[in-house]
Amino acid sequence: MSRKIAFLGAGRLASAIVRGLLAKSVCAPADLACTSKGGTTAQKLAADTGIACEPDLARLLGPADIVIVAFKPQSLATADPRLAELTAGKLVVSLMAGKRLARLAQSFPRARALVRTMPNTPAAIGAGITPYCSQAPLADADRAAVEALLGALGQFLPLEEKHFDAVTALSASGPAFVFEFVAALRDGGVAAGLPREVAAQLALETVLGSARLVARTGSEPEALRDQVVSPNGTTYAGLQVLAARQFRETLKETLLAATRRAEELSRD
Ligand SMILES: NC(=O)c1ccc[n+]([C@@H]2O[C@H](COP(=O)([O-])OP(=O)(O)OC[C@H]3O[C@@H](n4cnc5c(N)ncnc54)[C@H](OP(=O)(O)O)[C@@H]3O)[C@@H](O)[C@H]2O)c1
Repeated sequence: MSRKIAFLGAGRLASAIVRGLLAKSVCAPADLACTSKGGTTAQKLAADTGIACEPDLARLLGPADIVIVAFKPQSLATADPRLAELTAGKLVVSLMAGKRLARLAQSFPRARALVRTMPNTPAAIGAGITPYCSQAPLADADRAAVEALLGALGQFLPLEEKHFDAVTALSASGPAFVFEFVAALRDGGVAAGLPREVAAQLALETVLGSARLVARTGSEPEALRDQVVSPNGTTYAGLQVLAARQFRETLKETLLAATRRAEELSRD
């Protein structure tokens, strides 16, 4: 991609995108520039990757065709009001959780196109999944640019904005639920008599391998589950407890609670 990209914010996620774009040779360091509030994170990202650090907003945004909003959602209200004019005619891609397209349009009213994304933390190692939506249908070149950017974080998928609260619950909060599951498996192994280190390794590799098996075979998880179960065997005994303690119902309630909270938080 030969277009210039400016990053507003140079924290964990901006850093993951920059590193991904450079590693995949999607962009050259000369095409990327960043700024941060205090300047320290931008200076560090620039020093680490060879991209430019440009604290002057007009100089940062002037040559840029794409602007990535990579600061925290709570920073939007106090962001520099000159952004409204300085993003005129540009493709603006927001990484901010919970900021709807209608809200983005207030801060970036003259953008050529507005894109809302919802990354997740595995993006830090290029293993994320990032749904995105746009205010209006994207021109082919803009869609290709957005997908090249998000491809630096892993997988991506276009999705209507009405799904974004549920997406926030499932794929953005989801890693925390999976980490909790891995920790619970580990603790269960310890309760069953395993040394903690052994239980931690077995829990992690079991989750990793099982997820890979679902991905590789394309089978429904229930079908793979049934391959593990034999009548009245050990897996069956464990699944009986999961069912009795309403494991699926509990996870459903977990997702619904997170979705409701995402809806509340994205109202402004
Ligand atoms: N991390 C994830 O996996 C993840 C997942 C989903 C969504 N997101 C979204 O991604 C965004 C960034 O998250 P993060 O984890 O990368 O945050 P982070 O590590 O805290 O970095 C935030 C960056 O924004 C800068 N900043 C703050 N106010 C600014 C302003 N007014 N103008 C320019 N830069 C400003 C900060 O500068 P200083 O260091 O100088 O304060 C810092 O460089 C958030 O909106 C978050 O909702 C992140």
